[in-house]
Amino acid sequence: MTVHHLRAAGSSLVLDARGVAASIVHWGSDLGDLDGTALAALADAVVPAVPPSSLDVPLRFALLPGLAEGWSGRPALAGHRQGRPAGGLRLVGADLQDFLTVRSATPEGDLEVLTELDLSSQGVLRVRHRLTNTGPGDFHLAGLDVRLPIPQDAAELLDFTGLWCHERQPQRTPLGHGMWSRESRHGRPGHDDAFLLMAGEPGFGFRHGRVWAVHLAWSGDKSVHAERSALGYGALGAGELLAPGEITLAEGGSYETPWLVAVFSDTGIDGLSDRLHPWIRSRNALRLPRPVVLNTWEAVYFNQDHAVLNELVDAAAAAGVERFVLDDGWFTGRRDDRRALGDWYVDAETWPDGLHPLVQRVRGAGMEFGLWVEPEMISPESALAAAHPEWILGGPDAPTWRWQRVLDLGDPGAFAYIRDRLADLLTEYDIAFLKWDHNRDLLVPGSSHRQTTAVYRLLAELKTAFPHVEIESCASGGARIDLGILELVDRFWTSDTNDPLDRQAIQRWTSVLVPPEYLGGHLGDATAHVTGRTSALGFRLATALFGSAGIEWNLTVANDAEKQLIADWIGEYKRLRPLLHTGAVVRADPADPALRLHGVVAQDRSQAVYALVATGTPRSALPPPVRFPGLDPVRSYTVRPIGAPYKAVQDAPPPWLADGGITLPGRVLAEVGLTVPLLAPEQAALFTVDAV
Ligand code: GLA
Repeated sequence: MTVHHLRAAGSSLVLDARGVAASIVHWGSDLGDLDGTALAALADAVVPAVPPSSLDVPLRFALLPGLAEGWSGRPALAGHRQGRPAGGLRLVGADLQDFLTVRSATPEGDLEVLTELDLSSQGVLRVRHRLTNTGPGDFHLAGLDVRLPIPQDAAELLDFTGLWCHERQPQRTPLGHGMWSRESRHGRPGHDDAFLLMAGEPGFGFRHGRVWAVHLAWSGDKSVHAERSALGYGALGAGELLAPGEITLAEGGSYETPWLVAVFSDTGIDGLSDRLHPWIRSRNALRLPRPVVLNTWEAVYFNQDHAVLNELVDAAAAAGVERFVLDDGWFTGRRDDRRALGDWYVDAETWPDGLHPLVQRVRGAGMEFGLWVEPEMISPESALAAAHPEWILGGPDAPTWRWQRVLDLGDPGAFAYIRDRLADLLTEYDIAFLKWDHNRDLLVPGSSHRQTTAVYRLLAELKTAFPHVEIESCASGGARIDLGILELVDRFWTSDTNDPLDRQAIQRWTSVLVPPEYLGGHLGDATAHVTGRTSALGFRLATALFGSAGIEWNLTVANDAEKQLIADWIGEYKRLRPLLHTGAVVRADPADPALRLHGVVAQDRSQAVYALVATGTPRSALPPPVRFPGLDPVRSYTVRPIGAPYKAVQDAPPPWLADGGITLPGRVLAEVGLTVPLLAPEQAALFTVDAV
């Protein structure tokens, strides 16, 4: 037995495997190269005093904390066998190969837990437990969480809440004694998903402060929590939220937790992205370049008129679009959102020759074809529901939501039906992309685990059978964005709102975890359909540039000047996407809350692109100079304005802008910055930065 040390990319995790139970003695900044003696001394050095009125031996933070270790906070493992709660877990052994594995078991030997801890070269820690019922009879599992310790200076929490069209709203709260638990019972993460729970030094920002963060790579019910005990111990943790009876392990049966993805940064929130993005990119071989998309939803809604769609195909191709996606409304009987989900046959009335004429037109114009589906759902008013009421999750009396119910994918017949329908469509048509929607909560107790594992299986089977088909995870916008489903999909529909003002915040925060090339962002109508707010074309274009860009607007109604600006924007996107989709995302901590600066810096820091955004009216007539983070301090860079015109409230622009650009060392750009155009509210200015 020994003390193990995992080190990578500025972070360390030290696990003491010498005692009765394994304990994590450090998770945070890199401790350097420590030999066995130093590691043992470190582990000894953090053993605490024994306080009054407490356990008679020092309390340590166990890998699987529970009452048997003297931990009276939330236990890592909860469950029972014939009414007898699970006993404490003792260390059996630990082994460090490519990753660290720790074996624990109850003294009675009736339960075993195998824990894997894997710190990637990018500095992303993944931890999961596998519980096996090694005793006689059934074991009823109530919960199994992964917990990681955080120090007492991690005293402020930042996580997220949200609504439809208003996802990823940040919320900060001090961490006092007790538990801050964010629980999702939607059967999907939900619009109010905690998403990424951060604990940091009070006031931590994008570019400063030490931060510890966790995310559960899981698309079903879950609890993500932070806890501080009166003794001073603190922890971040997460696990699947299990309903009573949801998981019963027969003798020999096993349950594996989702991965807890954990990151430490000593340079604020951007430091989390700097580790998460390269790691995600190394795992998901996303095909680059990301094509420019046109999605028909807000252009035509359910009115799939051939003449209009044909015109839209031509306008899209002329603008430089590369993928044309036919949204909801193409299958049998689907005239509105009240019917037909499940009847995945092309509607013979709207499409007498099938989708062939449209697909041919799209392909003929040099674009890929994509199709909207919502495979996990069933409308009460559908041929499928009439034929198979037993396939409805929760039964035919389950509450409807958007007039639909959930198809029970745990039913082998329902699973096979939906897999075969999708396979037939993918075989008959030249489909490069599925927009895979999920427009309601499950609302059936105990269904989340079965349904989530089934949809993962369905996606995996389709990916194997049709490896060239890309899939977008949409759930009424961004209600299912997580690193569990990201193993199986290629794009997220970030939000149903195309209002650029709302989008600025949603994209900013979603991209803390998910690299921008996965996050769909579309140019919408001038007056946003969801909010009714009217925005300038330049602001809409600048907002949609930073992501997997597309259009969701009836381009045929655009005037010639608008069409030209859109074509120019697509050209710029194509030029910039190698940078946008591989670089480091940076955000500034603004002195003026009405101004935002974000950008992407190439990994070799040879170039960058930034957006200065006015979300409101700046506080001073001359706002503070904009400082450009992330550049190499000793290299010189030329900063140039790009993009569509914007409205500025000024008699004359700053002279460097009037001159078309300026060259300065990265250190000066980061420390002093440049004077800015006096942007009117809801305007954005774009800059490229190139090393000279
Ligand atoms: C959901 C999606 C939208 C659109 C509609 C179609 O609301 O989020 O983007 O696809 O469904 O019904």
